[in-house]
Amino acid sequence: MHPIRISPSLLAADFAHLADEVRSVEQAGADWLHLDVMDGHFVPNLTFGPFVTAAIKKCATRPLDVHLMITDPWRYADAFLDAGADLLTFHVEVEQNGDVGALLRHIRGRGRLAGLSVQPDTPADRLAPFLRELDLVLIMSVFAGFGGQKFMPEVLPKVARLRELGFTGEVSMDGGIGPATIGDAARAGSNAFVAGTAVFGAPDRASRIRDLREAALAARGAAG
Ligand code: DX5
Ligand code: ZN
Repeated sequence: MHPIRISPSLLAADFAHLADEVRSVEQAGADWLHLDVMDGHFVPNLTFGPFVTAAIKKCATRPLDVHLMITDPWRYADAFLDAGADLLTFHVEVEQNGDVGALLRHIRGRGRLAGLSVQPDTPADRLAPFLRELDLVLIMSVFAGFGGQKFMPEVLPKVARLRELGFTGEVSMDGGIGPATIGDAARAGSNAFVAGTAVFGAPDRASRIRDLREAALAARGAAG
């Protein structure tokens, strides 16, 4: 069983004080730091690129979990690996733009973890050809593009489907994760949890991360 990983999404951080925000969630118990990269094309929003990722890397002590919501990850993957991404995830929905397997092998060849993500309306079966080359699947539980959206429970069966297909790697869930939803995500079999609003918006981030972890562990224990 993979360890529980709480990955606060910096999308919900105060960008004028990023170093303080990174330190704050690391001290509060974050396992990974989730970086949402948006290109204004794959999703209708823009965030940041490799320069900001490299700046975060300088002050981070936890692994960078970089989520590329971009149309052309082939063009930019090396820039994010150079910037210090420890886990690099892109979307299977861009597969018509390049060789997905080749990019996954490239990421692993550079000694990092490789991930693929699926939007809520993309079936888990789209990942079937790539499962052996993947360290992590990131299941979107909202449509990519914005923080603060409502969790979509209809994506939960995708975890079981991935296991049926023989996937043994880590499964992360991203979007609308908080104290009220993390239990369902954990019971469904996810071990990693991205939480933006729920962590950065909490009055006490350490107690929020502790609550999230305990709820995930309890749900997993109950699921046997
Ligand atoms: C959405 C991003 C998520 C988002 C999660 O496109 O991939 O990582 O920041 O934010 P919350 O936890 O607020 O739903
Ligand atoms: Zn994300």
